[in-house]
Amino acid sequence: MAIYKVGVVGAGTMGAGIAQVISYSGIPVVLKEVNEEFLQRGVNTIRKIYEGRVAKGRMTPEELEQKMKLITPTTSDDPFKEVDLVIEAVPELMKIKEPVFRKMDEICSPGTILASNTSALSISGLGAITKRPSQVVGLHFFYPAHVMKLVEVIPGLATSDETVEAVTTFAESLRKFPVRVKECPGFLVNRLLMPYLNEAVLCLQEGAAGIEEIDQAMKALGWPMGPFTLTDALGMDICAEAGKVLWQGYGQRMQPAELWSRMLEFKRLGRKGGRGFYDYSSAGPTETGKPDPELQKEVQALQVKTGPSTSSGRTVFSPERLMLLIINEAVLALQEGISSASEIETAVVAGLGYSPSKGGLLHTADAIGIDTLVEGLDKFTQALGFRFHPAYRLRTMRNAGFLGVKSKQGFFTY
Ligand SMILES: NC(=O)c1ccc[n+]([C@@H]2O[C@H](COP(=O)([O-])OP(=O)(O)OC[C@H]3O[C@@H](n4cnc5c(N)ncnc54)[C@H](O)[C@@H]3O)[C@@H](O)[C@H]2O)c1
Repeated sequence: MAIYKVGVVGAGTMGAGIAQVISYSGIPVVLKEVNEEFLQRGVNTIRKIYEGRVAKGRMTPEELEQKMKLITPTTSDDPFKEVDLVIEAVPELMKIKEPVFRKMDEICSPGTILASNTSALSISGLGAITKRPSQVVGLHFFYPAHVMKLVEVIPGLATSDETVEAVTTFAESLRKFPVRVKECPGFLVNRLLMPYLNEAVLCLQEGAAGIEEIDQAMKALGWPMGPFTLTDALGMDICAEAGKVLWQGYGQRMQPAELWSRMLEFKRLGRKGGRGFYDYSSAGPTETGKPDPELQKEVQALQVKTGPSTSSGRTVFSPERLMLLIINEAVLALQEGISSASEIETAVVAGLGYSPSKGGLLHTADAIGIDTLVEGLDKFTQALGFRFHPAYRLRTMRNAGFLGVKSKQGFFTY
């Protein structure tokens, strides 16, 4: 099914960016908000993105106006009667999304696909609200939508292959990298990222290492920025909320460090609030934050209370502690059939920017060696707990001699 016209519901942080991306590809888009003021704010956001392109000489002012003409801003539902695809980008609350899905189901033509940009709510659940669950799908863009290449395509239990194919082709036409993800808490990228960020926070909370030390060590391994800089960029509230969703979904092995809620109590929301793990009060929009001695005192006070999480009472930071955890989660996702090995690599490279050489986490696993990985995870399990328990796929591979690069066979062949 071809997508000739799209409707976006919600012109906030994500909706405006998504509408810009669609118009940039030459596809007409209807953009809906709750009132004129918010609508105008969304339209201004889109214009600013285009103006940035004009300023860089990537498009002419005439082209900018042509693209803007493809956008129909509205506060009414009527223009949605003519769209082939609706992308819902309203706040992450079922009580707000539910009426949107009901209304769109009622007024859109029978062939229209209803997609949600939700980060965590159930796609199957959203489908069940409608009379067209086979045409309801997750289409998860990343922030900022006009920059980030990855789009997770998440079918619900009832979503048809035809719907998945249509939105995958559509995402490709936007010059994005769509990756199919089986529905699970956190989908793929947040499921991998959050335990990794949480482990960094645990290291800090336990006094195993400082913020800058951990950030620098991870950057040296091929991450575009350290875990604390990344958390500050994403927002402490967003990360803490995602962490809760994963804890609820996967249980104790994803229990968030206590420091997350303390950071919120300390009103350290990250870059957007002027301070998080770093202090941004005197930093420009693209400048890095400064270390914050006040936070160090707050963390030390927490260390006295919680103590280290090891049975020996000693805790250490090493880059492997974070890397082995996220690699293991990627293998767990693979063995559950959440995505294929190549899709996981695309998601990691395009969604997280982790690409030390060729490929992402699974290529790193092959380079480390599957036997070394299992041994390392077993040691961490003994020292730090069950969250490091190796995925059974890793033991199977080790026992069968699929050791990675050194045996020419691992997650990939060499
Ligand atoms: N912000 C991110 O980094 C990010 C990244 C990926 C996915 N998401 C997801 O995208 C969705 C939107 O998040 P956001 O950050 O853009 O939120 P936001 O609060 O910035 O924007 C939501 C907009 O929806 C509008 N809205 C509410 N009800 C509406 C309705 N009935 N009709 C039309 N507009 C309505 C609000 O006025 C608001 O402007 C959420 O599900 C979120 O989880 C967010």
